[in-house]
Amino acid sequence: MTLRSPRAQNSPPNLKFIETKTVPIDEAREVLASLTQDPPRLSPKYFYDSRGSELFEHITELPEYYLTRAEAEIFDLHLNDIAEALGSGDIIIEPGSGNCSKVQPLLERATPSAFVPIDIAGDFLWEAAATTALAHPDLSVTAIAADFTMDWNFTDKIPHGRRIVFYPGSTLGNFDPAAQRGFIQKLAKVVGAQGGILLGVDLHKESTVLQRAYDDAAGVTAAFNRNMLSVVNARTGSNFAPNSWQHQARYNTKLRRIEMELVAQSNQSVTIGGQTLAFAQGAVIRTEHSHKFTLENIRDLASAGGMTVTHHWLDRQSQFCLALLQTD
Ligand SMILES: C[S@@+](CC[C@H](N)C(=O)[O-])C[C@H]1O[C@@H](n2cnc3c(N)ncnc32)[C@H](O)[C@@H]1O
Repeated sequence: MTLRSPRAQNSPPNLKFIETKTVPIDEAREVLASLTQDPPRLSPKYFYDSRGSELFEHITELPEYYLTRAEAEIFDLHLNDIAEALGSGDIIIEPGSGNCSKVQPLLERATPSAFVPIDIAGDFLWEAAATTALAHPDLSVTAIAADFTMDWNFTDKIPHGRRIVFYPGSTLGNFDPAAQRGFIQKLAKVVGAQGGILLGVDLHKESTVLQRAYDDAAGVTAAFNRNMLSVVNARTGSNFAPNSWQHQARYNTKLRRIEMELVAQSNQSVTIGGQTLAFAQGAVIRTEHSHKFTLENIRDLASAGGMTVTHHWLDRQSQFCLALLQTD
């Protein structure tokens, strides 16, 4: 683990930036293995380089993408209650912190002593963490560039105190159900006996509303989905032609999840890690599952982590839920 030295020179005094050195993964091999599954898949972590993060920000402003507005409305309606339920003086840890905009009301109202954003997109993270540190000079900010799906070998760098993990944006829904339970169990260990998880999840609803949210008229989600192939090319040296793939998003009502895919528009052959894969016209690569939740699901997940849902808050239309999970 290292502090980034060029940035350290311009760093606000209350910001510590840690870049994890995890065991290097052979990403070409990882991508090859996931592309030879049935259906072929790519991990959602490949959505995010700087362009992917910018496109995601744009998605959150689209008229069809109600999720971010519904979650923001929950904060507008219930911020006092949320802050009271959290108590003050906590350490707030946010895995997948993005532009750190969602945590701002909590930083202002719950007045934690430290904030720990964790994100895989290191450059974007540094910008967001530095902006947050400048805006809150009394807050200690420890930004950690890491893949939160891997081993949290950086836990000892997180300040001590009552820890709250803030995990908004329904990012938990990108995991399949068994992995959701595993991740909640991991977070429960990170926060310990006195801690909590403030979890924002999208609720199951009518499929047309959901499908529109993931297939907007302006084509921003399509660009975001195709950008994944550019990210894979940059990270593995593969030669996908992103513009030869079409975005598709469907709601699987039975499994309660959006299935986002890329569909080959012509016969393609793609070389990755010295191997060539053939994709016939119409072949599909699954790029994201976005599971939707019920309150019962959230309670089951909490109990898998030895926790209880002590509070939950909804937006006016009950589209989205923010739940506070605390150790029993
Ligand atoms: C969907 S955005 C959510 C951002 C913000 N939390 C929100 O709710 O608006 C997902 C963020 O998580 C980050 N991310 C995705 N997969 C990750 C991973 N495996 N490890 C760390 N960060 C990840 C991305 O870089 C991106 O900033």
